[in-house]
Amino acid sequence: MCAKRLALALVTRVARRRYNSTSSLINVSPAAVEDAASLTITESFISNSEQQQLMKEVELSMGRKKYNFDHWDDAIHGYKETEKTEWSRDNQPVITRLQSAVGSRDLLLPHIHVLDLSNDGYIKPHVDSVKFCGRIIAGVSLLSSCVMRLQHEQDKHKWIVMLLPPLSVYIIRDVTRYQYTHEILADDVSYHRGQKIDRERRVSLICRTKPQSSLL
Ligand code: OGA
Ligand code: MN
Repeated sequence: MCAKRLALALVTRVARRRYNSTSSLINVSPAAVEDAASLTITESFISNSEQQQLMKEVELSMGRKKYNFDHWDDAIHGYKETEKTEWSRDNQPVITRLQSAVGSRDLLLPHIHVLDLSNDGYIKPHVDSVKFCGRIIAGVSLLSSCVMRLQHEQDKHKWIVMLLPPLSVYIIRDVTRYQYTHEILADDVSYHRGQKIDRERRVSLICRTKPQSSLL
């Protein structure tokens, strides 16, 4: 290979690696570095046109539902939601891709949880109930970036902050799923590495494994 081609190949490789690196999206406290290995973010998991197509179907499924702001003690504020098992032929391939990223079909809950957060909606710190969901939770983000914060329940020095861009998927499993709370920050406190991340309407498609108790 001539020097010029080699140089070009190296540049391409560096550029691609940088593009693939998710480290800038995840900010981890020193104490949580080992635990952070149990989560991933993949950028551009879906394309813009797939997002558009999914949003059409989500809007139809939500019908005339209004955003729910009623219960201040609820874990989620300013949201509407639905659970979907049937998807249009156009969208099914994306849903299958999401499910395959989580595990084999017999391990998965059959429905996708669709959660629509209004621009002033947010999710308070919580741990998904072990009664209703197993060791893996994966979410595709649509429309707006948001910041997800994970906090170890017993050790305040262990925290992980993730920037979730639209089109990305995050996967939380095992230690970060069971020992950490997760939350989606409200717009006024939505910061990542000191940078304000504007929160607009954000829709997530969440795929979860079945509760461990149902697999015994
Ligand atoms: C939930 C939740 C996260 C998300 O619905 O329990 O934590 O990405 N959702 O919307
Ligand atoms: Mn949750």
